[in-house]
Amino acid sequence: MTHGSVLLVDDEMKIRQALARALTDEGHDVIDTGSPREALRLLNERPFDLLVVDNLMPEMSGLDLIRQVASSMAEAERPQILMMTAHATVESAIEAMKLGALDYLQKPFEIDEFLVVARKAIEHERLRTHHDYLITERDEQFGHYGIVGKSAAIEEVIRKAKLVAQSRSTVLITGETGTGKELVARAIHDWSAQRDMPLVKVNCAALPETLIESELFGHIRGAFTGAVATKKGRFALADGGSIFLDEIGTISMAVQAKLLRVLQEREFEPLGSERTMKVDVRVIAATNRDLRQLTAEGKFQEDLYYRLNVIPLVMPPLRERREDIPPLVEYFARRHAERAGKRINGVAPDAMAQLTSAPWPGNVRELENTIERAVVLTTQSVIQSRDIVLVGAIAQPQAGLPSQNLKQNLEWTERETVRRALEAARGVKKDAAEMMGISQRALSYYLAKHRIEDAEG
Ligand SMILES: Nc1ncnc2c1ncn2[C@@H]1O[C@H](COP(=O)(O)OP(=O)(O)OP(=O)(O)O)[C@@H](O)[C@H]1O
Ligand SMILES: [Mg+2]
Repeated sequence: MTHGSVLLVDDEMKIRQALARALTDEGHDVIDTGSPREALRLLNERPFDLLVVDNLMPEMSGLDLIRQVASSMAEAERPQILMMTAHATVESAIEAMKLGALDYLQKPFEIDEFLVVARKAIEHERLRTHHDYLITERDEQFGHYGIVGKSAAIEEVIRKAKLVAQSRSTVLITGETGTGKELVARAIHDWSAQRDMPLVKVNCAALPETLIESELFGHIRGAFTGAVATKKGRFALADGGSIFLDEIGTISMAVQAKLLRVLQEREFEPLGSERTMKVDVRVIAATNRDLRQLTAEGKFQEDLYYRLNVIPLVMPPLRERREDIPPLVEYFARRHAERAGKRINGVAPDAMAQLTSAPWPGNVRELENTIERAVVLTTQSVIQSRDIVLVGAIAQPQAGLPSQNLKQNLEWTERETVRRALEAARGVKKDAAEMMGISQRALSYYLAKHRIEDAEG
C-alpha cells in the first residue's frame, strides 16, 4: 500500500484526532491543525500528498481555504484535496470539486469509509506525480515529444509551439508534406493544460464532401437519407480539448462558412437540428497549401483565413535545415532497428554524407521511410551507402510488409495501393480513383501526401 503525507484541517478536535489516528495507523504521515491559516502556512513550507479539510470552520471556510490553495499554488505542486461536509453544504463540496478537489465526504461518515477515500486520493497523487515525471523523462530522452532536431529553425518551432500550448488560441501550421505538421499539432495538445481531454483529428481531404459537414457538426436522426441515428460531430467530441483540422485547404466554400461561425461564436447546429450547441475547443489547423494564394484565387474565404491564422507556425522543409538530418537519422535508425528486432550501431560516414545531401522533397517522412528501408535491407550492423535507396530510384517494392509497426505498414500500404492503381490505370487518375473506390479529390490528396509523380499531368 502507498503511504503518503496528509494535512488534516478541522476545528473539531475530536474528529481531527480520530481521523489522524486512523491515518497514522495505516502508516501515513499526518499533520493536523484546527486553523486554516496555519494550514496555508504549512502548505507553503513543505509538500503534502493529501489535504483533508472540513468545510465549516470559524476562522475560514474549507471552501475558502481550497480557493486560496487553488489560486496560490501551481497544479503540479498542489496536494490532492478532500473536503468534508455536512449534508446542508453539499453545494460547497461541489464547488470545491470545481476548484480541483478530488472528492468529498458527507458527514457523518465511518472511519473506514474515510480511509478508503483517503487511500485512493494518495494513490492518485502518486500516479499523477509519476506521470509528470515520465513526461519530463520522455521529453528529455526524445527531445520534445518526439520532435527531433537541433537546427535554429526547429528550435524556434518548438519554442513557439510551447508558448501557444499555454493559450487556447487557434493555430495554423503550414509547411510542405512530411515536415511534421501533425507531430507538432499533437505536441501542442500534449503541452496544453487540456492534455487529458481529447485531441480529435479530422482529415478534411479524406472525407467526401457530402460527409464532412455531418462529421464535423454531427446530425440528428433523419437529417438526410441514411441518417438512421443521431450522431455526435467531431467538434462535440473535442469539447474541452482540441480539434486538429488537417488539410484544411481542401474544404468547400459551404463548409468554410460553417467553420467560420464556429471559430467566431464557438457554436453550431448539428445537421437537421435547430438546437444550437456551444463548444469549448481549441482549433489547430494544418495545410500544405498556400492559403493566402487560395484566398486570392477565391477558393478560400478571407475571413476564415484570418481567423485560422491567429498564430502561424511554419514548418521549414528539411533541405533548409540539413543539420537536423544526422540526429533524425540516428533517431529513426534506433526506432526501426528496435521494431525490426535488429542491432544497428549507426550509419557509415559515406552513407550519412549521402543522406545529408539528398534533396528530400518528401521531407522527414521520406527520410524516415528511407531509413526504415535501410534498416530492413542491411545485412550489417552499420548502415552502408548501398542500403540507402532514395524513393525516386526504387524499382521493385519489397515483398510483404516493411515493418512491424501498424501505422507504418498502413502508410506503406496506402502508398503502394495508390502507386499500383495508377500504374494499372496507365496514369489516368479517374480510372485509378475508380479502381480504388475513392473520389478523384481523395486521390489527389494521397498523391500529394506520398509525393507520387503525376503521370497524367
Ligand atoms: N522533427 C521530427 N522528429 C521526428 N519525427 C518527425 C519529425 N518531423 C516529422 N517526423 C515524422 O515524419 C512523419 C511525417 O510527419 P507528419 O505526419 O507530422 O507530417 P505532415 O507535415 O503532417 O505531412 P503531410 O502534409 O503529408 O500530412 C511522421 O512519422 C513524423 O512522426
Ligand atoms: Mg499531416
